[in-house]
Amino acid sequence: MINKPHIKKVVCIGAGYVGGPTMAVMAEKCKGIEIKIVDLNKNKIDLWNSKDLTKLPVFEPGLSSIIKKVRGKNLFFSTDVKGAIAQADIIFISVNTPTKTYGYGAGFASDLKWVESCARTIANNANGQTIVVEKSTVPVRTAQVIKTILESNKDTNSNKSFAILSNPEFLAEGTAINDLFNPDRVLIGGEDTFAIEELSWIYEHWVDKDRIIKTNLWSSELSKLAANAFLAQRISSINAIGAICESTGADVREVKLAIGSDQRIGNKFLEAGPGFGGSCFKKDILNMVYLSKYFGLQEVSNYWEQVLILNDWQRKRISKLVVENLFGNINNKKIGILGFAFKANTNDTRESSAIDISRELMAEGAQIVIHDPQVSEEQISNDLNNHLDKTYEDKLASNGLWWTSKDYSEIFTNSDAVIILTEWEDYKNLNWTVFAKLMRKPAWIFDSRSVVDPDLINNLGIKLWRIGDGTINK
Ligand code: UDX
Ligand code: UDX
Repeated sequence: MINKPHIKKVVCIGAGYVGGPTMAVMAEKCKGIEIKIVDLNKNKIDLWNSKDLTKLPVFEPGLSSIIKKVRGKNLFFSTDVKGAIAQADIIFISVNTPTKTYGYGAGFASDLKWVESCARTIANNANGQTIVVEKSTVPVRTAQVIKTILESNKDTNSNKSFAILSNPEFLAEGTAINDLFNPDRVLIGGEDTFAIEELSWIYEHWVDKDRIIKTNLWSSELSKLAANAFLAQRISSINAIGAICESTGADVREVKLAIGSDQRIGNKFLEAGPGFGGSCFKKDILNMVYLSKYFGLQEVSNYWEQVLILNDWQRKRISKLVVENLFGNINNKKIGILGFAFKANTNDTRESSAIDISRELMAEGAQIVIHDPQVSEEQISNDLNNHLDKTYEDKLASNGLWWTSKDYSEIFTNSDAVIILTEWEDYKNLNWTVFAKLMRKPAWIFDSRSVVDPDLINNLGIKLWRIGDGTINK
């Protein structure tokens, strides 16, 4: 059991969407603790250290002002992973754990190669008593893997000892800073009571003690997967209801209000949309599917897999209905896409529905022009298979013509359709009267995020499809 004075030095491995904001808030709230965020990616560390705060690799409202206050005081960014580990009292592992693309469990299980390599680096470089915290969302029983590696690699004569904790992060992108300042709960799983109390002590700098839940390791790991599975399931449920609304004349926004007023259901997380994206939902449900199958629980596995099947279907349904409404033909038609991030207020595009929908439309021959306030053209290029490198002629020949624009006039001019895929605030305030005139008639707006005022669009002589709205265009 670990037993020493309070933590003074914190290290976080992984300067990504989770590690960056989490440690920034911890630094802001724990002035007496020194925090180092380390990452193998030098380019990313340089961006975190850049003077120009608009260049931070993670766009998150409120983040840059915190970085400005704590960077260089008690928060440091570095590529010296080993050096940082050698001095740490506590190490958070916050590296990515994407779905495996190869070998056993390909397409379902999480790839733990980076978690494993972190464990090995920690085993070799840590000194004295070190608390190792699993922050990345991982499959159940990963802590055991980390523990086995740490224990089998430590030199029997050394004074090294480790305690392993699970402390999953529940922040959502776009609201990360608020979620971190005011978490619904903090979850700490583990066996070593001193280590649990130390981690709890860090959070108690700003979180009420009664919001800190302490469980065993496995409950903590499973709770993160379960929370994400429940949340994703709500979205597939409301999207399924939305499709029924469109066929019957009901309106999903009215249904949402009616069912969400039941306190047992609650009114949050009930927005019908183009399907969920983000780094966690799909990956974590695939993990549940894999885990259940592994333990012989085929029905449980099928149950959760259906949440993903519905999500894929929702994306395909949207691209298909765009094509159908444009007379079954979008070859060489110009289509504007408003929003590429998987949700508003982030520059993250991982698993964004916009990727699949754009690809489907390009496969039908459309020329698409994409607008997003925060996502870079380079990122879109990566997501759409590097079409950026190709010449205009090559793109045309491969039926994959896309480009980006920050100019709304360019998005609307001569477009047959504009599709809203992310609920950015800017899109709510567009001057539709001006932009509608620029479109080629008959023109369509496809609003998958309930952003536009339907009366306004109809009065402009533009055709409107709105998610889950069976009351229009019937
Ligand atoms: C998230 C969550 O942490 C995790 O719960 C979820 O399972 C997957 O994604 P996130 O912070 O969003 O992680 O990932 P990302 O933005 O990709 O950041 C991970 C960072 O770890 C990257 O900057 C990567 O360079 C770094 N890394 C990865 C290392 O420093 N060392 C490694 O060995 C592997
Ligand atoms: C999620 C969990 O919310 C968070 O607790 C966990 O730590 C990581 O995974 P994140 O993926 O960042 O967070 O964003 P979230 O707000 O959950 O949105 C996920 C996706 O669901 C987005 O594509 C979003 O647009 C979609 N969504 C969300 C809906 O379509 N409707 C809703 O009502 C809510």
